[in-house]
Amino acid sequence: PRPQAVPDVSGLGWEALEQQIRDCRACALCERRTQAVPGVGDREADWLIVGEGPGAEEDQRGEPFVGQAGKLLDAMLAAIGLRRGQNVYIANAVKCRPPGNRTPEADEMATCQPYLERQIELIRPRIIVALGRPAAQTLLDGEVKIAAARGRLFDRHGIPVVVTYHPAYLLRNPQDKAKAWEDLCFARASIV
Ligand code: URA
Repeated sequence: PRPQAVPDVSGLGWEALEQQIRDCRACALCERRTQAVPGVGDREADWLIVGEGPGAEEDQRGEPFVGQAGKLLDAMLAAIGLRRGQNVYIANAVKCRPPGNRTPEADEMATCQPYLERQIELIRPRIIVALGRPAAQTLLDGEVKIAAARGRLFDRHGIPVVVTYHPAYLLRNPQDKAKAWEDLCFARASIV
């Protein structure tokens, strides 16, 4: 069995951090990935958007949210006047694709968490949006139900965190899109 050593990324700058993510072999997800997907966007953004993990297209292209869910995410961001790469950074709870796009396991998320932590430290966003349950659980350190967590302001080391539906869920449940839009407006209003 692979020792799930938690990566030490304390003090790393962006280039070293991304290199360490690309080279990471700390959990079994490394074995079937094409490449790790560190994140993309404005490194000084006010907004940090956190998804679950790379899917097939992200794994191929090395960029988060470039598939169908990504198109919807772009539309959601546009609806509140944001564009990928401008004042927004997009990352995932786990940086490597879980086989068959399964949900990441708790231990995989825990192993990968220092990378997201360091990204948060470097970006120092003014608001973090967790897309879906795995992202919310990683950011809030525990069990979270999206329907119950929506509309509440959480705190992660002094940074407000808002929880909403994952765009892949919204593709299957378009009746909830209006709620996600409300959540993004709530997030925007929560920036101090
Ligand atoms: N879904 C995610 O959670 N992240 C991606 O990068 C793509 C799809």
